[in-house]
Amino acid sequence: MKGLILSGGKGTRLYPLTYTGAKQLVPVANKPVLFYAIENLVEAGITDLGIVVGDTKDQIMAAVGDGSKFGAQVTYIEQPVPLGIAHGVKVAQDFIQEDRFVLFLGDNFVRDGIVPLVRNFENEAPACQIHLYKVPNPQDFGVAELKDGRVVRLVEKPQAPQSDLAVIGIYMFDHHVFEAVNNIRPSARGELEITDTIQYLIDQGLKVSPQIIAGAWIDTGKPGDILEANRLVLEELQPHIEGQVDKDSQVNGKVTIERGARVKNSVIRGPAIIGEESEIINSYIGPFTSVYHHVLIEDSELEHCIVLEHSRIIDVESRIEDSLIGRYVEITRSPKKPKAYKMTLGDHSKVGIL
Ligand code: G1P
Repeated sequence: MKGLILSGGKGTRLYPLTYTGAKQLVPVANKPVLFYAIENLVEAGITDLGIVVGDTKDQIMAAVGDGSKFGAQVTYIEQPVPLGIAHGVKVAQDFIQEDRFVLFLGDNFVRDGIVPLVRNFENEAPACQIHLYKVPNPQDFGVAELKDGRVVRLVEKPQAPQSDLAVIGIYMFDHHVFEAVNNIRPSARGELEITDTIQYLIDQGLKVSPQIIAGAWIDTGKPGDILEANRLVLEELQPHIEGQVDKDSQVNGKVTIERGARVKNSVIRGPAIIGEESEIINSYIGPFTSVYHHVLIEDSELEHCIVLEHSRIIDVESRIEDSLIGRYVEITRSPKKPKAYKMTLGDHSKVGIL
């Protein structure tokens, strides 16, 4: 089997973080979300991987390389314009050829991996296997309707969902999928939809197997979802301390301090991770916080946050919570007079003030 990971798209729901950065490279517990997908595939024995890339191709290639660090071989496939998931499959036809494959959306995260799902697909050998997860907001996803354990209908983001089963961004196909993607028409949002592709297979009388997954699934397309994925991964963190923690600091619970990080006169309450070469001085870092590399946090308190590389948070009086802070961000105190908030915020930034 092969693996096909989609890693293009604009990431509009994660603006401003994704104006310049690929949404698949936003770190969850200090590791790009895309890497979890690659690791899930490799763990299931799938090492011949295609990654479909768009505008952010250079960043994705720089991060993943030839795949050898994951034990995989990666072929990059260019999608000149992002015309939908099924279009991503279409451009990968030469790479997939007649093989069966797993299609994995590069911003989807599953806590428990995909090993049993792949084994089931291999044993049962349907034309397609989809994976479903019960959600409170099915109208935001592709939704599956089942009857007697079979998939009878798939609808993309229905206004009045007939079930609460979202179709997650991990799909398994045999070669019939290419007939489907070459026959469907663009949807109202101008995309070739994966739901229409699978509906085509159902309409042709081909077997589409549903697997309902129990372990958590997160589509990390929105800020709150990234924080939730971060929380899930940190809960299972294997703590280790490679950086320096001085004698005036306290480190409690599951905490990882990466190489070159320095913690001075601070409290780190896990689960939390402090990235390479970051400095935490006179500060409190609370549970479910991931601080990426080369960050400075001084005289401040953070909890349930993700801070990306090279940001500086200095002397902030109130605790910062539930926040996703981008790269090279500075949050510092204004001069005493005139007393005012001073901000330089990019498009789509969000600030909650007290
Ligand atoms: C896409 C699919 C949708 C699926 C979702 C999973 O939605 O179209 O069917 O439920 O991924 O992440 P999109 O993220 O393109 O809105």
